[in-house]
Amino acid sequence: MCPPKVYEVSYVINPWMEGNLGHSSRQRAMHQWWTLYRALSAMADVCLVEPRAGLPDMVFTANAGLAKDGVVALSSFSYPQRQGEEQLFRNWFLEAGYRVIDIPRQTPFEGEGDALFSADGARLWAGYGFRTAPSSHRALQEIWNVEVVGLHLIDPRFYHLDTCFAPLEDGSLLYVPAAFDQASLQRIEAYYPAECRIAVSEPDALAFACNAVNLGRSIVLNRISAELEQELQRRGFQVTQVELDEFLKAGGAAKCLVMKLTPSLHCETISGKELSRQLLEV
Ligand code: ARG
Repeated sequence: MCPPKVYEVSYVINPWMEGNLGHSSRQRAMHQWWTLYRALSAMADVCLVEPRAGLPDMVFTANAGLAKDGVVALSSFSYPQRQGEEQLFRNWFLEAGYRVIDIPRQTPFEGEGDALFSADGARLWAGYGFRTAPSSHRALQEIWNVEVVGLHLIDPRFYHLDTCFAPLEDGSLLYVPAAFDQASLQRIEAYYPAECRIAVSEPDALAFACNAVNLGRSIVLNRISAELEQELQRRGFQVTQVELDEFLKAGGAAKCLVMKLTPSLHCETISGKELSRQLLEV
C-alpha cells in the first residue's frame, strides 16, 4: 500500500474524476486509508511504498504491476500522468527481491487493475478496452505460462477490470454484468456456474462493491447495501466495510489501494506507531 500523503484529484483520466478536480480532502483520505490499512494489517503483512509529490494516483498500488511467484510484470501506464510511478514501483520491487519484467510502452498494461487470477491461479482474466491493450496479454501468458482470457470492458465508469470483477477465493465471482460486452459475458458464464456468480446491483456497482480485497474468508470493501452484505455472509464471508468515498472521487476504492503480493520477500513492515507519526506529519 501507499499512504495518501500526496493524494488529490488534479487531472481527469476517468469519469469519476470529472467534477472532482481539487475536491478531495487529504485529511479525510488519510483517515479512510488508515482505517483500511488497519483492517488489512489484522489479516496480512502490509508493506508500504513511499509516494512522490506530483504523482497523486500512486496511492492506487493495484496498478503498479502484477505479481506471482516472485516475478512482477511491471505496468506500462496508458496515461502520461501516471507513467512517473513506474520507476518508483520498479525500485521497490527490485529492492524487495522480485524479478521485474517490463511491459513495453506500445502495449499499455495497468497491472492488477486489469489482470486478476482465478481462485486456482490457472487462469488470468485480463480486462481491456480503456487502459490495458489486449496486445499486452501475450506477454502475461508467456511470463507465467497461464491461460489469459480477455474481457472487453464497455462502460467507461468501469474502466479497470477490478472495478467490476472480483474472483473470490472460494471460487465464486462478484461482478457487474453490464460492464462487459456479450462475448465476454459468455466467457464469464462458461467458467463460473450460475450459483457461483454474484451480480451486484447498480447502486452497489457504483459504490465499487466489486473493488473488494478478499483474503481467505474475509472481504474488505467500501460501504455496500445490506442485501449484498447478507449475501456475502450467507456464503460464509466476514465482511468489513470501510468508508472510502474520498478515493471514489479519483475512481478507486479498497482493492485499487492494495496490490496483492506473494510472501517470501524481504519487505519491511513498518510499525503502526511509526506510520501514524509519519501520517501526522502531513
Ligand atoms: N485515478 C486512478 C486512475 O484513473 C484510479 C486508479 C484506480 N485503480 C484501480 N485499480 N482500479 O488511474
